[in-house]
Amino acid sequence: MSELIPAPRAIEGPMRCAVTLDRDTTLWAGPGTGTTERWLRATLGAALGLPLPSGPQDARNSVRLHLDDTLGPEAYRLGVVSGRGVEIRGGDAAGVFWGAQTLRQLLGPDAFRRAPVRPGAVHVIPHQIVEDAPRFAWRGLLLDVARHFMPKDGVLRYLDLLAAHKLNVLHLHLTDDQGWRIEIERYPGLTEVGSWRARTKIGHGASPLWDEKPHGGYYTQDDIREIVAHAAERHITVVPEIDVPGHSQAAIAAYPELGNTDVIDTTALSVWDTWGINPNVLAPTDSTLRFYEGVFEEVLALFPSEFIHIGGDECPKEQWRRSPAAQSRIKELGLADEDELQSWFIGHFAKWLSVRGRRLIGWDEILEGGLAEGAAVSSWRGYAGGIAAARAGHDVVMCPSQHVYLDHRQAPGEDEPVPIGYVRTLEDVYRFEPVPPELDEEQTRHVLGAQANVWTEVMDDSARVDYQTFPRLAAFAEVAWSALPAPAERDFTGFERRMAAHYRRLDALGVAYRPPAGPRPWQRRPGVLGRPVDGPPPNG
Ligand code: ACM
Repeated sequence: MSELIPAPRAIEGPMRCAVTLDRDTTLWAGPGTGTTERWLRATLGAALGLPLPSGPQDARNSVRLHLDDTLGPEAYRLGVVSGRGVEIRGGDAAGVFWGAQTLRQLLGPDAFRRAPVRPGAVHVIPHQIVEDAPRFAWRGLLLDVARHFMPKDGVLRYLDLLAAHKLNVLHLHLTDDQGWRIEIERYPGLTEVGSWRARTKIGHGASPLWDEKPHGGYYTQDDIREIVAHAAERHITVVPEIDVPGHSQAAIAAYPELGNTDVIDTTALSVWDTWGINPNVLAPTDSTLRFYEGVFEEVLALFPSEFIHIGGDECPKEQWRRSPAAQSRIKELGLADEDELQSWFIGHFAKWLSVRGRRLIGWDEILEGGLAEGAAVSSWRGYAGGIAAARAGHDVVMCPSQHVYLDHRQAPGEDEPVPIGYVRTLEDVYRFEPVPPELDEEQTRHVLGAQANVWTEVMDDSARVDYQTFPRLAAFAEVAWSALPAPAERDFTGFERRMAAHYRRLDALGVAYRPPAGPRPWQRRPGVLGRPVDGPPPNG
């Protein structure tokens, strides 16, 4: 049988018996299982030409969906039993849905297409029981739709890909220096001005090349509602990120009063066309706070997520050091320095979100100068921020750049397109461990989970995003879902064997992954400079 990515916890039963699904197979969906009922007909049924009409619970050879409160959150039990058919029991609606994803994996690559390629084929699944539950509650992917815009259909497709890998958080990086990607009705300039740039640096670092074609795009509020609803149907939470107080040049280009007007002429700024850390940051004024409260009010109305990401990373303090307004704010608040000023800025939104029943999450820089009660941390500069946060009782999502930044190159050598960062192979990602040994049991409970991050400076279309993301996201998904042994003991050979089947599924899904032997000719970018970092990544 084809094994699973992520792998099931336990598989038992003789392989001689089997269940056959055909046009007469009926579907019984118990209370609370509607998302899976709809998904089975619209996705699995459409792929295989199975209408799956409703039928009674006791029909022979049927598919049956149940909630089962003896199972834990997101856990499922998939039974494929000769004569009876397929039964999926879930600890909650999400568990039933993940069980259906495993059923799809058992049905082979054709189950991953959008329409039948072999009409009338019979679909045989060997008799088996799969009992399975996730290790982590937060199994995330960050898509940076700010550096290069990903049109709405691409995001919907990525939600489908996440669901197929039992990942349940899409962190959408919606704003940055290079673009503002979400319609905010009260501030139309954010998208009229902030959602496009006149030209774009091709490549990274010292690359001298420019694409003179304007680049842009944004999601209307209805687009966002559609994305959030598509995610909810797949038990995926969309966590929006509005990055403050750094990474804000696109917003300042649209509303120059948001910047440090007493230091530079912010009216001369445009949406940034190149890459790196940008000195033009938000002014720490009351009017900036009020402006972003207005932004977040609309964001909260669109995204039901408990966590709202406010960025907080890479905010150079040079303009605040030179700004009389920022300096008098530091004095007036009795703060020690610019780090405490950033902490005050972030703390303001932590409180603002908390009175609205939400929680702030930010990059690990938000620990500098003190972190607000209840705030959580995305640990990206290694594990250190996550360790410090968990020790202080804060929740953490582990996404250390040296392990799970999927913009980093997948192999050494000249063939990798626009190589960035360290070499992080499929095996390296498979051996990523989200919980560092420094944490004790109590602190480990603060590790909500793990996230892979896809930053798109050098990914100008969805094929490039696919190339960087896959196959490594499959390894990441298994790490986030399964309780694997310690990194050195993980069976990478077994994983590679299962990947042979999974590549066929990715083919059927139309994913432009990096083949094991290296990029296809059209996946190369000869002559475009990246910014590779030599040597092994640092530990920690
Ligand atoms: C980050 O990579 N700047 C969070």
